Amino acid sequence: MASIKVNATVPNVAMVGIGAYRPTRIVSNDEVCQTLDSSDEWIYERSGIRNRRYISGDETARSMAVAAGERAIINSGIPREEIGMVLLSTLSWTTKIPHGAPQVAYDLGINGVAAVDLASGCSGFGYGLGMAADLVRAGTSKYVLLICVETLSVVLEPTDRSTAFIFGDGAGAVVVGPSEENGISPTVWGSDGENGEAIGQNHDMLSYMDRAQEYQRRDPETDPLDRMVVTMEGPRVFRWAAVTLPRALKSTLEISGITADDIDVFIPHQANARINELMKKNLGLRDDIPMANDIENTGNTSAASIPLAMEEMLATGKATGGQTALLLGFGAGLSYAGQVVTLPPAPQITSF
Ligand code: UT7
Repeated sequence: MASIKVNATVPNVAMVGIGAYRPTRIVSNDEVCQTLDSSDEWIYERSGIRNRRYISGDETARSMAVAAGERAIINSGIPREEIGMVLLSTLSWTTKIPHGAPQVAYDLGINGVAAVDLASGCSGFGYGLGMAADLVRAGTSKYVLLICVETLSVVLEPTDRSTAFIFGDGAGAVVVGPSEENGISPTVWGSDGENGEAIGQNHDMLSYMDRAQEYQRRDPETDPLDRMVVTMEGPRVFRWAAVTLPRALKSTLEISGITADDIDVFIPHQANARINELMKKNLGLRDDIPMANDIENTGNTSAASIPLAMEEMLATGKATGGQTALLLGFGAGLSYAGQVVTLPPAPQITSF
């Protein structure tokens, strides 16, 4: 039997740089309520959101992904030629063919590297970070650039009371690579396809294709395109989160060999400030432990929410590089993924 070579394995890995991009257009609750039957008070009280950002002008998922990736590379200080893989985590890329990662790699001046998209909704950063860490540990890539980007404003139904006020746009990225001390725990992750339809879309690809000819025959004046939008049964997801997430957080601490007292910073997915407060309390984290609250002015940016929230905390001094943080993403799938990490250095180039 031939002996197949194994790359040198790397036990210790970490996030060595972070970057983000926030669209310039800020959309207040009052602006959302021009088309949505809701109010600023209701939205803030139920979700913790005051503003979100939507793309405008030349901004696209591609431009935001490239901007965040570029900042992460520069902030990491590593030569971009050492990046062996671009992982693009997104559920709102507008084409499946071609997928986005090769285009983003090309725009970043690293055409030719391994480049693949990853779709796991709001747990997209956690899944991507777990995969990036293991790719580096296995010696497959020296550095992995993980970029998470969403343009959810494009797939929102502005009159839908369960989604229109929640979602926003943005991008966050980290460079994962070898490190003296280990800075990324094993990942605790899972899924629940049984409840998958709790977050979804009104049309799947097949029904679009089935109706393609019908679309071509329609009169756009009298028969406007019934576009694809995201759907969510909010209370159902809330109930699922209340049962699933405390267990996931407990397992993440156990698998990392640390206790709640060792956590300096808590950075959960920015889905709902009330869910996050409950998780913090249930886990027994001290009141004075800083917790990400990027949702207030960025909304829920799905896969991009954790890196955006991490960047916000580092850029504003609410957290510092080298601190120990607990991360947990959750959402579409349904799915979740979390880690204990050492925070990367505060970014020199920020999204603000
Ligand atoms: O990122 C992916 C993961 N997603 C999540 O984790 C989302 C989890 N779910 C949530 O965050 C919450 O379910 C929401 C923020 C989406 C909704 O909050 P809620 O407290 O669960 O509201 P609800 O749907 O149970 O509705 C409560 C009340 C109802 O009125 P009554 O029956 O009590 O009179 C609704 O009709 O609020 C009403 N309502 C609204 N009122 C104003 C529902 N949506 C709205 C709205 N504006 N947009």
